Amino acid sequence: MVPSDTPRRKRLGTVRDENVPRITDPTAGIDEQELDTSLRPKTLEEFVGHEKLKDNLRVFIEAAKMRSEALDHVLFYGPPGLGKTTLASIIANEIGVAMTATSGPVIERPGDLAGVLTNLREGCVLFIDEIHRLNHIVEEYLYPAMEDFTLDIMIDKGPSARSIKLNLNKFTLIGATTRAGMITAPMRARFGVVSRIGFYTAEELKLIVERSAGILGIEIDNDGATEIAGRARCTPRIANRLLRRIRDFAQVKGEGRITRDIARIGLEALEVDECGLDDMDKRILTTIIEKFGGGPVGINTLATAVGEEGETIEEVYEPYLVQEGFLERTPRGREVTELAHKHFGKARSPKDQSKLF
Ligand SMILES: Nc1ncnc2c1ncn2[C@@H]1O[C@H](COP(=O)(O)OP(=O)(O)OP(=O)(O)O)[C@@H](O)[C@H]1O
Ligand SMILES: [Mg+2]
Repeated sequence: MVPSDTPRRKRLGTVRDENVPRITDPTAGIDEQELDTSLRPKTLEEFVGHEKLKDNLRVFIEAAKMRSEALDHVLFYGPPGLGKTTLASIIANEIGVAMTATSGPVIERPGDLAGVLTNLREGCVLFIDEIHRLNHIVEEYLYPAMEDFTLDIMIDKGPSARSIKLNLNKFTLIGATTRAGMITAPMRARFGVVSRIGFYTAEELKLIVERSAGILGIEIDNDGATEIAGRARCTPRIANRLLRRIRDFAQVKGEGRITRDIARIGLEALEVDECGLDDMDKRILTTIIEKFGGGPVGINTLATAVGEEGETIEEVYEPYLVQEGFLERTPRGREVTELAHKHFGKARSPKDQSKLF
């Protein structure tokens, strides 16, 4: 059984040394879960960005409260570290109910699911992280639970086996996934609200950095916050992690206060460049340029060439590289863009240049 708090990086089985997490890894490290919790906004008001989604959620929550009904089931999808778990706990908090949190791989058998569901109180929130990793059998049992709040369970084995229907308390299921494409159609259809949680702007990240600095008692000026926000891969979890690391530089190399200069010294030492790219991003992009003529190259070939799992490249590295216009996903494989060539000061190969005309 995989505990729900095992970092996703580990579950994906990457070859990276677990003791040396990348500073720009958007998945949470073991020691970071406590930090995540202490910095996690507790209300929609405190949650930075995603204004449209927040407005909609306010309406849905209010309406459910007025009707004294459980809120419709909600599915959040998007890259790691952008606030899916945070939003789930905010929803429970705003409705004023308890949240039970579990994750797809933890619910191994229908009996595990029955245990979770029968313990839910009326109107409560059940949060299932990595919901795409639920196995098929468990998923089939979840359907009637989501739809009619009933559960068919088998009692006994062999000839005396029979199925009984259990009535459950009404609950709201909030699912989160980094792999929307792996959610089955019948599962997706059972969510009333489906929302993508996308990347943040530099301005939004700056607000997050300033808020976190306030909570952690870190002194930071406007330029220092701007510098960190600009290199945090559009991801709140990374912004918070950089803030903590840069604080160390401020204490040792400065006067305790994070300024632009201190932020730059720290970011340089951490090998995060001005676009937020780290060592592995650079390795991915330069490998495609140097070994595969700019691409296209299949994900598995690329994974072998850079020494990383294909799934990790797809889930952790690629979304940001695609969003920032360094990489393209094409039906024939991954291709680097003109911007990537410029960033590394590399000319396109002759074969590649023909693509420009
Ligand atoms: N909109 C936001 N405003 C302020 N802080 C945020 C916001 N979104 C995320 N954070 C911060 O980033 C951290 C990571 O967020 P969270 O754990 O919700 O991400 P996630 O999408 O669930 O990631 P994963 O896919 O790895 O589970 C939180 O601890 C929180 O402090
Ligand atoms: Mg999460």
